[in-house]
Amino acid sequence: MLLALSTWPEIEGQLKKSKAVVIPIGSNEQHGPTGLLGTDWLCPEIIACFAEANAPGGKDMLVGPTFNVGMAQHHLGFPGSISLRPSTMIAAIRDWTVSLAAHGFERIYFLNGHGGNVATIEAAFSEIYSEASWQGRPRGYSMKLRNWWELKGVMSLCNSLFPTGHGSHATPSEIAVTQFGYPDAIKSANYAPRIAPTGPIREAADFRARYADGRMGSDPSQATPEKGEQIVRLAAAALVEEVAAFAVEPDSFAI
Ligand code: NI
Repeated sequence: MLLALSTWPEIEGQLKKSKAVVIPIGSNEQHGPTGLLGTDWLCPEIIACFAEANAPGGKDMLVGPTFNVGMAQHHLGFPGSISLRPSTMIAAIRDWTVSLAAHGFERIYFLNGHGGNVATIEAAFSEIYSEASWQGRPRGYSMKLRNWWELKGVMSLCNSLFPTGHGSHATPSEIAVTQFGYPDAIKSANYAPRIAPTGPIREAADFRARYADGRMGSDPSQATPEKGEQIVRLAAAALVEEVAAFAVEPDSFAI
């Protein structure tokens, strides 16, 4: 079930069956010369929507709107990148979560597509739980963060599909997932060097100087829509299973 294509009475009805909601969350940022700017929010959205439409049990899983701008300050040296500062993102995650919780959602599952978001999402969870503690609220909602590449079996599949040149940014895995989702938007380029350099992540000017075309350690030319489909099918099945377990987890209220 997709929240955006539902009415409020339908959501009211869904709440009688499940208190869980999945929020794809990512970033709008450069992904090298061939990766789409939306890659990091498209990947979790593609996986969640494929799961909802096709995986066994997927129709029972509610998928909310995608949180599609994240913490990407280091990519701002490349046109098209958009970033929230961590404090803004924490405030926005808080407002999304508290809005959903006010309607009765008790299990809010963030499916993330951007490593640079992790520290900020976790800080947001701490902020939200702190607010509940200080206000002396009774036991209420719980949140979970899962990076899509950490869903059961996905990283080992990616390692077997791309034993070299996977890297950490503009990876062939994430680009393959977007190629499967949006085959009409596949781009090509001559990569030089074939495998991009690796190193630290600091601010935007340093990132641009270190990683001239935006890639980090990756060779995205290995991506194909067929490989993306394998990743999406595996991730989607694992997602439905994990969300179903989270939805009924007895002690997930614990702070
Ligand atoms: Ni990415």
